[in-house]
Amino acid sequence: MAADLINQKEIVPENYKLLISEETIQKRIVEMGSEIYNDFKDDKPILIGVLNGGFIFLADLIRNINIDLEIDFIRISSYGDARESTGHIKVLKPLSADITDRPVIVVEDIVDSGLSIEFLENMLSAFNPKILKFATLLNKPSKNQIDIPLDYIGFDIEDKYVVGYGLDDTQFKRNLRSIYHVE
Ligand code: IMP
Repeated sequence: MAADLINQKEIVPENYKLLISEETIQKRIVEMGSEIYNDFKDDKPILIGVLNGGFIFLADLIRNINIDLEIDFIRISSYGDARESTGHIKVLKPLSADITDRPVIVVEDIVDSGLSIEFLENMLSAFNPKILKFATLLNKPSKNQIDIPLDYIGFDIEDKYVVGYGLDDTQFKRNLRSIYHVE
């Protein structure tokens, strides 16, 4: 089969329902990129992708921010293979960059309870960045347990488990281009 045909349509399990299409995601990321451009055009920010889920969003977002920027990654434990936050978070891969006095944007795939963002805010503030902002592609407002300082939100969604576009179903399905909810 020709390579371009193999990738034409995603093969998804029957219990996955399309929530946000690839086109809608990409359109929103262009808008988010220009919001960030307007806020940071005089700075050289560091964007910190939160692994594993945030890597695809970070990759698409930075290509829509037309300024000089750096990237780094941090990995924190979140749910493992479970679907609810345990509230016990630890750093699995620390930052490499020095963020002291630098403008920083943390890039998350999804905010659910908000405990990961709260943890990152406490941890990263201790390095005294010049600016500390948070971007997330998805937010589940009904699940937020704390008042979270989210500066850039792609989409507010309902409280349903979602997969694709970096988000996993027991570590699989991150490579789907659209976002689905699991029924
Ligand atoms: P929080 O600490 O409860 O806000 O959870 C944030 C992290 O949990 C995200 O970075 C994801 O890794 C994971 N997560 C939360 N909700 C979902 C979901 O619906 N699908 C996949 N991962 C999720």
